[in-house]
Amino acid sequence: MNRRTFVKQTCITCVSGGLIPFLITGCQATHYTSGLMNATGISVPKSEFTYLKKEQTLTRQYIIIQNDKLEFPIYVYRFSDTEYSALWMKCTHQGAELQAAGDALHCPSHGSEFTNKGAVSNGPAEKNLRSFPIIVQNETITIDLRQS
Ligand code: FES
Repeated sequence: MNRRTFVKQTCITCVSGGLIPFLITGCQATHYTSGLMNATGISVPKSEFTYLKKEQTLTRQYIIIQNDKLEFPIYVYRFSDTEYSALWMKCTHQGAELQAAGDALHCPSHGSEFTNKGAVSNGPAEKNLRSFPIIVQNETITIDLRQS
């Protein structure tokens, strides 16, 4: 494979693989946490949204909760200190696990996309993502998993 072919194939892979939204939103690494399961749901401290960089405290847009007791991860997006969304990372088209790309979720199977509030922004999926109520108390966010 010559250089020109390599560059051409790499660009096609990036575009078709949905990497552009990720590249536009920057290189901030996705932060994963397991959370703490309880009788009604799962809790995470607000501090999961902050990190230190060059002695400055910065805020993450989102985190992903991955826990052995969950069939799919949960994407938690922070709109403000008191407003969050919690979305089930299961595509409503055919059930593939979604990938987070900044303030959007992308399906690697057939290209569906969802907003940070779970609304379909690009098909073939037609239904919005399952979302969960969130209770913000002091420094803890609790995601209520009782809702079906
Ligand atoms: S399973 Fe997600 S778009 Fe088909």
